[in-house]
Amino acid sequence: MRTQVLIVGAGPSGLLLGQLLHRAGIDTLILERQSGEHVLTRIRAGVLEPGTAELMDEAGVGARLRAEGLVHDGFALAIDGVRHRIDLRALTGGRSVLVYGQTEVTRDLMSARAEAGLPTLYDAAEVRIADFDTERPHAHCVVNGAAIRIDADFIAGCDGFHGVCRASVPADALRLFEKVYPFGWLGLLSDTPPVSDELIYGRHPRGFTLCSMRSPTRSRYYLQVPLTERVQHWSDDRFWEELRRRLDPEAADRLVTGPSLEKSIAPLRSFVAEPMRFGRLFLAGDAAHIVPPTGAKGLNLAASDVRYLSQALIEHYRERSQAGIDHYSSRCLSRVWKAERFSWWLTSLMHNVDQEPAFQARLQQAELDYVLGSEAALRVLAENYVGLPV
Ligand code: APR
Ligand code: PHB
Repeated sequence: MRTQVLIVGAGPSGLLLGQLLHRAGIDTLILERQSGEHVLTRIRAGVLEPGTAELMDEAGVGARLRAEGLVHDGFALAIDGVRHRIDLRALTGGRSVLVYGQTEVTRDLMSARAEAGLPTLYDAAEVRIADFDTERPHAHCVVNGAAIRIDADFIAGCDGFHGVCRASVPADALRLFEKVYPFGWLGLLSDTPPVSDELIYGRHPRGFTLCSMRSPTRSRYYLQVPLTERVQHWSDDRFWEELRRRLDPEAADRLVTGPSLEKSIAPLRSFVAEPMRFGRLFLAGDAAHIVPPTGAKGLNLAASDVRYLSQALIEHYRERSQAGIDHYSSRCLSRVWKAERFSWWLTSLMHNVDQEPAFQARLQQAELDYVLGSEAALRVLAENYVGLPV
């Protein structure tokens, strides 16, 4: 088989890249290790920066998120039981975010790809990529027991943190940066109305909480838990009880509980691999970087990588220009590191850092006081939350 751009991974990065390239008349083939149904069972963050929603529009897949996404003009920081509203619209000159689950983003992209009749090989086993440092990159995989070889002009590694693409790059050509946090997030999804119309990021001596949502009737809540916690030890009742203890009084009062639809623990990690291109292989999204979920930057960073990558490839095919390809890694990394900084900062600010020296805890308190009391600091927070320029 042969294609112009071989995309490894049918998560949001790979699917969005495929859609943008298709609209520019560039052929793609996607190889995905899992089934399509499995890809749609993953539950991840649900806040889209305006730039991400615009890119979905450009890809021709913005209709449902414009109709069903919830426009959020602000969110709250709840500090030890007192809620402070961050007015995104006022602080950023009129910008706001869209609450729309990543699962729905993926579903919209998958349907558009299927409607356009574009090829995706699901359940592709033993995916290997080769010769991406030459003019003739290719991949091998096994689908339904048959071995397949695919030749391509370029390979896009959109295969997430545990994918094969980054792992195929010689170790001495990569520099890895990583920070693992000493806690995780226990998340619960339920068909119950959210405690508030806007997201609440809560700091509390018992640990961080996030009250988020997918719709006016579906809530997503998170609790900071030690890394040693196991999800089996958290009955729904135990989750709701712990959440209520950490909420501000008004939220605790309004909390409606119900059976969980999903419950899982995710570790928190900051990670960047540099560079993001090796010859004719590009890394995009979680394959190249991970942020802790505080601030919901993961999907938005994946989208900005894909914007740069689609532009670079379109320039290559239309104008025979190498410029976008040469600058891909540095353009991405400049935005990636700013989002890494913001996600690390918001995580450090809002989580219980009791394990750290008392000095650290006092600094955190001082920083919170400062941020909430300073118009300049609030603008910095809001500008990062709605997303830095692409
Ligand atoms: N071969 C083929 N496909 C693979 C392989 C492989 N060896 N390894 C992984 N994949 C697939 C996974 O099954 C998955 O469907 O690649 C896809 C990667 O998707 P994601 O992990 O969702 O990564 P990405 O598309 O970059 O999306 C970034 O995900 O983690 C969140 O916060 C993050 O929202 C952001 C988004
Ligand atoms: C979510 O809704 O899952 C969510 C929202 C905001 C975040 C992280 C996760 O910062």
